[in-house]
Amino acid sequence: MAKIIQEHDKCIGCGSCVALCSKHWEMTDDGKAKLINAEKKGDNYELEVDDAGCSKEAAEACPVQCIMVKE
Ligand code: F3S
Repeated sequence: MAKIIQEHDKCIGCGSCVALCSKHWEMTDDGKAKLINAEKKGDNYELEVDDAGCSKEAAEACPVQCIMVKE
């Protein structure tokens, strides 16, 4: 299992996560990215998955490093 976490407030809406990993990420009306099907925990969004897959690339590409992957 892996956990994907986004510090949603920090997102500046650059869109790299969506470009690299549309399976897990989509842009929303607030101009930020949303982790699809994630649970809101405090200021963060969290999603447990079998394999973080392309979200690892998204985490590396995010310019404000607001995506974390824990495996
Ligand atoms: Fe936001 Fe980072 Fe994605 S700034 S749009 S979470 S690449």
